[in-house]
Amino acid sequence: MPERLDAGRRARLRAAAEGVLRRNWREGRYRDGTPYAFTCPSTPRYRHQWYWDSCFHAIVWRRFDPARARAELRTLLHAGRLDGFIPHTVFWDRPARWRRAPFYGTHTVFGDQATATTQTPLLALAWEQVADASPDDPGFRTEALDSLRLHYEWLARERDPDGDGLITIILPDESGLDDSPKYDQVFRWMRHDLPGHFWLIERNRRLGYDARRIAERHEDHVEDVLVNVCYALSLRALGRLLGEDDEGEHARRAARTEQALLDRCWDERRGLFFDVAGNRERPVAVSTWSALAPLALDGLPEDVRRRLVEEHLLDHRRYLAACGIPSVSQDEPAFNPGFDRWRCWRGPSWVNTAWLLVPPLARLGYEEEAERIVLSLVLASERYGLREYYHPRSGRGLAARHFGMSTLLADLADGMVCSTP
Ligand code: GLC
Repeated sequence: MPERLDAGRRARLRAAAEGVLRRNWREGRYRDGTPYAFTCPSTPRYRHQWYWDSCFHAIVWRRFDPARARAELRTLLHAGRLDGFIPHTVFWDRPARWRRAPFYGTHTVFGDQATATTQTPLLALAWEQVADASPDDPGFRTEALDSLRLHYEWLARERDPDGDGLITIILPDESGLDDSPKYDQVFRWMRHDLPGHFWLIERNRRLGYDARRIAERHEDHVEDVLVNVCYALSLRALGRLLGEDDEGEHARRAARTEQALLDRCWDERRGLFFDVAGNRERPVAVSTWSALAPLALDGLPEDVRRRLVEEHLLDHRRYLAACGIPSVSQDEPAFNPGFDRWRCWRGPSWVNTAWLLVPPLARLGYEEEAERIVLSLVLASERYGLREYYHPRSGRGLAARHFGMSTLLADLADGMVCSTP
């Protein structure tokens, strides 16, 4: 009998996911007395609070313990500034260790509470999902609307210097895809996995991490497809939290970002969405899973989304693989699927990729393929645990163990209607 994503398998996966989140839970008080509660991605490598990891953790926590989901998002919001900025990493219970500290985009190399850079802005999306799972705390939905609104206004004001509706990143790790080969030609010798990266951080530090000042002087900043897809999804979620109808301000802003993705990033010939880099908006024609991320935008034309699926996601020369969805197309020269201490987004399959791409794949009618992708990751997690990422060909679990974001697999499996036995 073929293996299935049956109820027993999903229950075991839920237990494993809950175990990882509980193990990585941290709470206490910062040195100024501020209380915090969050899930660290994995010890010993990732001990702090990361923006998008926390959003993903909260989305999974809501299935087990909505109070912790709420606490995690409130903690993230409290780490932000009053002007709406929210950091990429927050050092609540311990400073960054001396060997890791130079990697963080902080104002001073040691001692800051958080980075001065941000990360893929998923907060409103996570907030809505957690609010929907919080009938015991109905006030949660509306308690932070002003702060959430300010956060997205900060992004529009500070991170869209050319005003085209696409926000920009100033360090490669602001997308969460630190060393993705799509950044090689943009950051070149300063890319995330080369020593020159410390120079890039130092230079941005001198410019106050101010995107406008950076854009005035340099070409190494990116209007990133994945970041903008998540931005648009979050703007729509924020609109719903605010109680706007479909024509509301935030839905309009999201539609503008979606249209800009189509106008500026869609490559009709290749059938992919490419980041655009620098003031001249040069397309970065490297096929990574970010080029498929607009699949998650249901409002984009169906023929565009089907091309992403049929010409790429389900093509065995590109993204169709034995385990999960590779982070880089297998036909790219940079494709590197195995473990590498410094490089993690150059080929391996990550769970958050599947979490974002599989539901829209199923919604477009490719249910069997969707279920196969999820099952392949579930089988890998049964054998190797919830690891940071998996080898797309062998399914081998790689890098960090008990990895927080990979608990999204339980959320994904529970949401698969087609998997009911
Ligand atoms: C790595 C990942 C990034 C993640 C961080 C913490 O740097 O590339 O996406 O946010 O670890 O888990």
